[in-house]
Amino acid sequence: MSKQRVLTGITTSGSPHLGNYVGAIRPAIKASLSGDYESFFFLADYHALIKHQNPELVHQSTLEIASAWLALGLDTDKVIFYRQSDIPEIPELTWLLTCMAAKGMMNRAHAYKGAVQANVESGEDEDTAITMGLFSYPILMAADILMFNAHKIPVGRDQIQHVEMARDIAQRFNHHFGEHFVLPAAQVDDDAAILQGLDGRKMSKSYGNTIPLFLTEKQLKKHINKIKTNLLEPGEPKDAESSAVFQIWKAFATPQQTTAMAREFANGIAWGEAKKQLFELINEQIKQPREKYLQLLENPAQVEAVLQQGALKARDHSASLMAKARRAVGIRPLG
Ligand code: TRP
Repeated sequence: MSKQRVLTGITTSGSPHLGNYVGAIRPAIKASLSGDYESFFFLADYHALIKHQNPELVHQSTLEIASAWLALGLDTDKVIFYRQSDIPEIPELTWLLTCMAAKGMMNRAHAYKGAVQANVESGEDEDTAITMGLFSYPILMAADILMFNAHKIPVGRDQIQHVEMARDIAQRFNHHFGEHFVLPAAQVDDDAAILQGLDGRKMSKSYGNTIPLFLTEKQLKKHINKIKTNLLEPGEPKDAESSAVFQIWKAFATPQQTTAMAREFANGIAWGEAKKQLFELINEQIKQPREKYLQLLENPAQVEAVLQQGALKARDHSASLMAKARRAVGIRPLG
């Protein structure tokens, strides 16, 4: 039996941060090294255009995120690692799927509904600043997934709905045109940590509360010192579970280290001391990848070459799938 396929993408709209690392990159690399799956990981650069009209940011972010994956130990002989925009079949499939996607379903997408609601709350017209890109990006995401007939899609909770939409669209396509697509399922890893950001909300680029993964030591220390805490003094017992410092600690520590830190919290460790230890814990783990990362940033041509190789492998799959899909919908040579 052939292996199950796992596929996931990271939007190239910022610098990789600790939340990306523990929530997505680290578990994905670990799973890919196990050899139990066939893995497809990609840089979702078309998705980055939904939120930004900042070409430099999209370009730089692509280099940074690709370099981060490579520096953290992704083995590109074992996985297919590519950039979305190098696969011209993806936008092509997007159109075929757009013609299968019910508008009523798209109206219910959380990202779109959230934007409408924000407009209504601020007294604007419902549609203010909402592009068709924002409205229909779940269809682009469906094309990302269905193109490679992926079974499992590791994502954060906020993306489950999109995977379900991809599944719905695949079902409709299969119903009309024959069995072309595997029905994908979201995989929400309960072990993968969801990190709190500097302000205690989920660490996310859209909240601007992230700790970038590859800061200099000095900057990393500074960011960790900015994590929000309460006013409890040294010696006063502190609640570990509700503390962002402890949550982040847990994501990097061994179970023994976590138990030890929980005890320190109960014993009233000073916030400054807890943060100092957190810095040391994280820094120790990212010291080596950081060097590799900085080296790759200096050699973008090397990263580009890796992506081009990945694109060749990916297109092996996408070109043949797209040829079949075109034929299925009636787009084929005459005679
Ligand atoms: N939209 C996803 C996010 O914002 C990124 C993404 C794009 C993705 N295409 C994908 C994730 C396909 C999984 C599968 O996090």
